[in-house]
Formats: sequence, structure tokens, C-alpha cells
Amino acid sequence: MTRKIVAGNWKMNLDYDEAKLLLKNLIASKDQFPSDVEVVICPSAPYISAFAEVLRDQDWISLGSQNNYFIDEGAFTGEISPKQLKSLGVKFGIVGHSERRDNFDEDYSMLSKKVKALLKHNVRPIFCCGEQLQVRDSNVYKEFVMKQIQDSLFKLKPEELAQLVIAYEPIWAIGTGKTATADQAQEIHHLIRSRIASEYNDKIANQVGIIYGGSCNADNAKELFSQKDIDGGLIGGASLKTESFTAIANSF
Ligand code: PGA
Repeated sequence: MTRKIVAGNWKMNLDYDEAKLLLKNLIASKDQFPSDVEVVICPSAPYISAFAEVLRDQDWISLGSQNNYFIDEGAFTGEISPKQLKSLGVKFGIVGHSERRDNFDEDYSMLSKKVKALLKHNVRPIFCCGEQLQVRDSNVYKEFVMKQIQDSLFKLKPEELAQLVIAYEPIWAIGTGKTATADQAQEIHHLIRSRIASEYNDKIANQVGIIYGGSCNADNAKELFSQKDIDGGLIGGASLKTESFTAIANSF
């Protein structure tokens, strides 16, 4: 299991034709993606099933969801079932993005259920954490992020936790063009890994992919990815262009 991951979070962007074109361009650029990097794209939910068909013979690129419910089936109008995602071949699922925590009141207990629900179907959660600007400025950001991780993840069994990807996404850096410095990001990534090592063990801490998100782009990815505990990126805006997404994947 490689720890190098570059995941594109397309959010609620692109109409269907635009999304299909981006997918087509990515597939045409296959040779430019390094083979030792796990490449993931997380398009909007309505596109997943058609994308799964197109990607059937493209095992170098994995599909991820942006959201899921924590129950497999039933009377939950409008929700996205983890079982259904699995049946489409989805391999990763973003959970706990700050945009969902803020806009849809997702709290730590809901997030831990969502993580569990994905793991039940062998879909690897990309669990997001990160602090607001005022938390960073008030200097309790380390405790804040550690609590997010501890509250939602530390009831998982060791073999479950080992499947996780954790995305550290400082909220002040998301979509703002203001990236965390490599030192700022590494500080938190190191802390996350150390905390997992002390709660579980070193082996598991080394299996978990810890990726950075927040205005990561083709210009800053190299410096970020050169840090010991930064295993790649969760990329928003820069994943919507083939050239920048390819360049980021080549930044290790
Ligand atoms: P951004 O978004 O790269 O556009 O800052 C990252 C994210 O929200 O996952």
C-alpha cells in the first residue's frame, strides 16, 4: 500500500460535459502520472456511476466519493449509501470535509459513523481535519486538530485505522490561495503520526497516509511533499485542470 496519494476533490464544480472532458483529458495524460502515486478523483455524486464505467479498465486512477451516509439502505431520501458506492467500485471516500462540518452540521459522532460505514465495505476514508483561522491565531490549533482525530477515529480497531488517509486541511488555507508553509503543515502531520503511534503503534502510524489540503498547487506541492510526514495532497481548485493536477502528482 503506497503512502503517496494525490486526490482531486472536485467539490460541486463542473457540469456533466465539463466533468467528462476533464476525465477524458486525465485518461489521455496517463503516461504523465507516476506509477508509484495513488491517484484519486472525487467527482460530484451524480457522475460517479458513469465515471466508474469509463474507468473500468483504468486501474491507475481510483474513484472517490465526497460524502456518504452511514447506513447501507432504507428510507433516507437523497442520501448516499456506502454499500452503493462500493458496488460502483468506489475505493476512497472523503469524510468530514470542513465544508460539510460547517454547512451540514456534521459532528464528530456522525463522522465516526461515516468512517466506520465506509470501512465496512473496504472503502478507504479520507478523513479531513483542520482548524479555523481564529483557532490558529489563538495558538490552540494543535490540541484542536488532535481532538478532531481522537474523537472521531480512536475507537477504530488497529486494522481499521491502518486503512485511513487523513487530510490535514487548515480551513484558512482552503480555496483562499493562502497555503500553509511546509513547516506549518509538517508540524501537524508529524503530530498526527506521533499521536497515532502512541495510541496504536509505529507500524500503523506508518501505514496511514497523511495528506495536506488547502490551496495546494503546482507551485507549492514540491516543498510540501518533501516533508517527512506529508504523503501527498487533497487538491481542490488545482485538480480541475489536467496540467496542474498532473504537475502536483509529479511533485514527490
Ligand atoms: P483547495 O481545496 O485546494 O481549493 O484549497 C482543498 C479542499 O478543500 O479539499
